[in-house]
Amino acid sequence: MRKPLIAGNWKMYKTPKESLAFLEGFLPLIEGHTRDEIVLFPTMSSLGYVIDAAQGTNVRAGAQNMHWLNEGPYTSQTSPTMLVSIGCRHVLLGHSELRLYFNETYERVNLKLKAAINHGITPIVCVGELLAEREDLQTEETLRSQIRTALRNISPTEARRLVIAYEPIWAIGTGSTATPEVAAEAHTFIRHELAQCCGQQIADNTRILYGGSVKPENIASLMAQPEIDGALVGGASLVPTTFAQIVHYA
Ligand code: PGA
Repeated sequence: MRKPLIAGNWKMYKTPKESLAFLEGFLPLIEGHTRDEIVLFPTMSSLGYVIDAAQGTNVRAGAQNMHWLNEGPYTSQTSPTMLVSIGCRHVLLGHSELRLYFNETYERVNLKLKAAINHGITPIVCVGELLAEREDLQTEETLRSQIRTALRNISPTEARRLVIAYEPIWAIGTGSTATPEVAAEAHTFIRHELAQCCGQQIADNTRILYGGSVKPENIASLMAQPEIDGALVGGASLVPTTFAQIVHYA
């Protein structure tokens, strides 16, 4: 059984004060909710505060990125040991905004994935095609190459805690969600590729989240697809009542 995971990606929004105000509103709304895992991804400046404030609740918080080394002369970067030291156990890797605006590559995602696994941090690896790639019928080729590069030299044992987020770039922040059928088709393909890389058992146990304009209005139909194991929510995760509605999809 794959326990659903609903994640909120706050991107570059919310000061520490605003993050704590969110929790104050959000925690009572999802108190006792155990059907889904709930993980928030605040900015680095808020992460420690959110982790501390969420202690003892059913909400976890993770980082939006990290470096793969433990320390070094890498201005602006945060290391896996630093994340672990503040109680962080989740990290987003390869988000398309990093790929598009900050030249993130899947070769680096692969290094970061290995480091996350070695430090006991649950990695959520983002994959997804551009609109032009979908129109050129290159979706599968793109996803295959992203997955194969990200998972290079990752053993099945190491892949045990892996989570994948399928985020078609044309659906992120645009309001145009992939239909449940289009998303499920991509998820099926991703699971097939995972089986090629890590074996069927890992593929069957790996959660594949959908991301891209998830809202209270479309979460239920997405989650009704057996291939969709959760959601990575951007814009709609910023407001406590909206995100709580998503968590409570029926
Ligand atoms: P969105 O963002 O829900 O605002 O489309 C999703 C994401 O970037 O993870």
